[in-house]
Amino acid sequence: MKKIFSGIQPTGDIHLGNYVGAIREWVHLTEEYDCIYCVVDYHAITVEYNIEELARRTIETAFVLIACGLSPEKCKIFVQSHVPEHTELTWIFNCITPIGELERMTQFKDKSRQHRANINMGLMGYPVLQAADILIYKADFVPVGEDQVQHVELSREVARKFNSRYGTIFPEPQVILSMAPRILGVDGQSKMSKTLNNYIGVLEDEKDVWEKLRTAVTDVNRVRRTDKGNPEVCNIYTIHRAFSENKMLLEIDRECRSAGIGCIDCKKMLFENVKKELTPIRERALALQKDTGYVIDVLKKGAQECGAIARKTMDEVRKATGIYIP
Ligand code: TRP
Repeated sequence: MKKIFSGIQPTGDIHLGNYVGAIREWVHLTEEYDCIYCVVDYHAITVEYNIEELARRTIETAFVLIACGLSPEKCKIFVQSHVPEHTELTWIFNCITPIGELERMTQFKDKSRQHRANINMGLMGYPVLQAADILIYKADFVPVGEDQVQHVELSREVARKFNSRYGTIFPEPQVILSMAPRILGVDGQSKMSKTLNNYIGVLEDEKDVWEKLRTAVTDVNRVRRTDKGNPEVCNIYTIHRAFSENKMLLEIDRECRSAGIGCIDCKKMLFENVKKELTPIRERALALQKDTGYVIDVLKKGAQECGAIARKTMDEVRKATGIYIP
C-alpha cells in the first residue's frame, strides 16, 4: 500500500474549513492508503503562541481528529514532538537546503510580515521540518490545500538533493490537492479562521451553529427577499457544496437565481445537512471526553509505531551521510 503523511497544527478549535478541506478527506484516504497523521506542535512554536495552552490544544486536536473518524484502527495518529527523529532529520536537511529557497517561500514572506519582531530561524526552517515530517516515513503522497503545495515541492527538492548527494533513500512525495471548495468565514470575506473569529467549530453545539449560520453573510447584492441572488458569490452556497447533494445544489442554484427561495430557507437546508454530519462527531467527542486515557493511549501507540519507522530511516541517513556509528 502506498503511504500518506499529513500534518495539522494544534492551533485550537477545529472548524468547518479544516474539516472540509482536510480532515474529512484524510478519513477517506485511510481506505486506500497506509496513512500517518501528525499533530505538528513544533511547527506551532515558530510564531508567537500561548505557552499555557499549547499542550491542551495539542491533545484537543488529536481528540477532534479521532472524533471525526480517524480511528487508530484505520491510521496512525501521533504528536510530532513525541518522535524526536523529525527534528534530527531536519538538521541533516538544513545542511543541504539553500537559504535562498526558504526566503522565497510565500508563507515565510507572509509570516515575516505579520511577525516582524520575531523572524526566527524556526520560521524560515519551517518547510525543512515539514520535509523531514514527510520524508522520514518515505511518504508517497501528501494531502494538502493549495497553500501548502509550495512546501511539498520543497520537500521534493530536498529529497532529490539528498539522494543525488548521498545515494537514494527518499522517494519524491507528491501532492494530493484537496478538491474541497474553499470555505470562507461567516463574514463571507476572509478565510475561515480562529484568529479572525469568523469560524464555525466542528464541536460547537447545534444552537450556536445555527446562530452563526443564521447571521452569516450571503450574496451581499441580495438585499431584499425579492432580489435575485448569485450562488457563485455566496459563501453559504459554497458551504452547501461541501455538505449537500447534487440534487439539492441544483435546486438551490435555480431557486436562488429566480428569488424562489430566500437566504434563510437556504440556510435552514444547509443547517440540516451540517447537523447530519456533525452530530455523530460531537457525540463521539463527548464519549471520548469521558475517556481521555483512550486518546492518550492512541497517541502513545502512534508515537511508538512511527518512532520505530523514523529510527530506521535515521539509521540509513546516518550511514549515508558518514556520521560515526559506534
Ligand atoms: N504546514 C502544514 C500546515 O500548516 C502542516 C504540516 C506540517 C504538514 N508538516 C506537514 C502538512 C507535513 C503536510 C505534511 O497546514
